[in-house]
Formats: sequence, structure tokens, C-alpha cells
Amino acid sequence: MIILGVDTSCDDTSVAVLDGTRVLSNVVSSQVDLHALFGGVVPEIASRKHVELIDGIYRQALTEAGASLADVDVLAVTQGPGLIGSLLAGLCFVKGLALSTGKPLVGVNHVEAHAMSIFLEQQVEFPFVSLIVSGGHSVLLLFSEPCRFRMLGSTRDDAAGEAFDKVAKYLDLGYPGGRVVEELSRAGRADSVPLPRPMMDENNFDFSFSGLKTSFINYVKKSGISKSNCCDILASFQEAACDVLTAKTVRAARGQGVKRVVVGGGVASNNRLRDMLVRRCAAEDISVFFPSPGFCTDNGAMVAATAYFYADRGLFSGLDMRAFSRMRWSRDRC
Ligand code: KG4
Ligand code: ZN
Repeated sequence: MIILGVDTSCDDTSVAVLDGTRVLSNVVSSQVDLHALFGGVVPEIASRKHVELIDGIYRQALTEAGASLADVDVLAVTQGPGLIGSLLAGLCFVKGLALSTGKPLVGVNHVEAHAMSIFLEQQVEFPFVSLIVSGGHSVLLLFSEPCRFRMLGSTRDDAAGEAFDKVAKYLDLGYPGGRVVEELSRAGRADSVPLPRPMMDENNFDFSFSGLKTSFINYVKKSGISKSNCCDILASFQEAACDVLTAKTVRAARGQGVKRVVVGGGVASNNRLRDMLVRRCAAEDISVFFPSPGFCTDNGAMVAATAYFYADRGLFSGLDMRAFSRMRWSRDRC
């Protein structure tokens, strides 16, 4: 089954071609330089850029896969959640392809796609708990089988990646901030500043990162820390964020009696988070799976892989499907 997958949910324009879950091409065009000027994604700029880029990226993805549209069996596109203008750019483009060719269409949940990105590189048995941590989401999902998941918990305020971005922005370290925070943290001591672990010991699977971010900002103000001497506070921040994510994920897996954890989203490329999860999951006899960093951040391949499981089960979308900006659990059929 040849699947063409498109993701335009935020600021990356991406088109991929897969044979089943095997990646034939995955073209990602990042708009990060455009948005860096503003310290965050500007929705109007993002949607205009998607409209400009999508046709060229689509052609490049087909060329790199050595395929033509006639070879494609299924068309897939991110339906939501995301920025509505950005989503519509991809959705309208793919609906156009579906209308003109009569090929079947699958609308994909972007958060579910982050969880499914693991199947681009390896096989994982169901059931598993999935931790999705990105700039827009921090959620724990329970997958009982492909296309069947339910939410165990989510963030009540900032997403994990958003908190990394905001502390980096506060210290004028550029955007997006996750990677630079990780790099600078290597030179810092993680136990140098006592920062809170919000909700870590509460008996639920929700997260909260806004209090941690505020504690970080208050400490920076009080101690006169700046860009030039921030490694210790950044390492302490990263440690606190990873500690909470790890503790809750392990507890979720243990509570559900599940022996596998799958991680996804941009923050899943953080090596401190990876180390902590590997160590604490091993202590509980739980296996943990991470996609390669290139498949952690937004990409069309994960959308196509998700669609593969839906198409394989005969689950298709109509041309009347609509974009949705906030997380929706309509496929929550556990
Ligand atoms: O999944 P993604 O590309 O986009 C969303 O769907 O949001 O994730 C982007 C997020 C950004 O907030 C970025 O700062 C964060 O992932 N990120 C990281 C790292 N690399 C990217 N956060 C922490 N450590 C990293 N190494
Ligand atoms: Zn994403």
C-alpha cells in the first residue's frame, strides 16, 4: 500500500511517501527562521507559507520516492489538532488530490501520529502507553491496538516543549528553545537550583509546567542570572521537567499493567529525558521505545504511517472532513 502523507499542523510543511510503514521519502520544510524573528510561531505567516510551499514539497516527495500520483493508493493528511489556518492549507490540498483522482482519504490526528511514528523504524507490540511531548502537547495515551487509544492525562497549562521554549526566550537564547536548553545544560549542574516538580506526586496522569516556568523566571530575576551564566539553572529546569515526565509515564504504565512505553514529539529527542526513561523503565521491567530525532519533530511520514493502520482496517474519511484546532478524542474507542 503506497500512502502519501501531509502534515501542515504548525510551522513545518511536510509530505512523505510510504510503502506500508516503510519510508520512501519524507520532505520537511521548516519555517523556523521566519518565526524566530518573532520568538514564536505567527499563525498568519505559517498558513501563507504552507500555501506557497505545499505544491513544491509534494512534487519533491514523489520524485524522491521514485513514484507518481498514479502509484499512490491512499492519501493522508493531518486533520488536527493544530493551527487552523495551517491545517486548512494541507487539508484543502489533499482534498483536491482526492477529488481529482478519486483516491481514498484518511484524516489523521496529529498527536496520534506522533505516537505512531515509532512504526516507521521498528515494530512494537500492543498495548503500550505513549508519552507525547511537543511544543503543543504533553499527553499520556493508552493504545490497546492500532487506531484504538484513550487519553490517560494531559497538561493543564503549558506543554513541555512550550516551557523549554519560554525559558529559552526569557534568557534570549533563541527559538525554538528545547535543543539549546539541552546543549547548555550539559555544562551545568542539575542539582544546583531546587525547582518544583508540579503535580508529580498527585494521583493522576496530568502535567503542569507553567509553575515550573514561573519558578525558573523568579529565580533568574532574584539571582541576576543572564545568558552568560545560565547553565546551572537550565540544567536544573531540564532535570525537573524530565523528572515529572518520567515519573508520571512510568506510573501510568505500571498502573495500566502495560510493559511497553512509546515516546514521541519534539521533546522526545531530549537525551536527558531518554536517559531517565530508559533507566527507570528498566527498573520496572518496562521496555521503552524512541523514534530517531528526525521522526520526533513534525513530519509527513508519521501521518502516512498512522493512515496505513486506518486504511488497513477500511477506516476512511469523507471529503467533508473538517480541520479541528483542539485535541479531539472522537477515535477514542478503547
Ligand atoms: O513535535 P514538534 O516538532 O512540534 C509540535 O508539534 O509542537 O516539537 C517542537 C518542540 C519545541 O517546543 C522544541 O523546543 C522541542 O520540541 N524540542 C526539544 C528538543 N528538541 C526539540 N525540547 C527539549 N529538548 C530537545 N532536545
Ligand atoms: Zn507535533
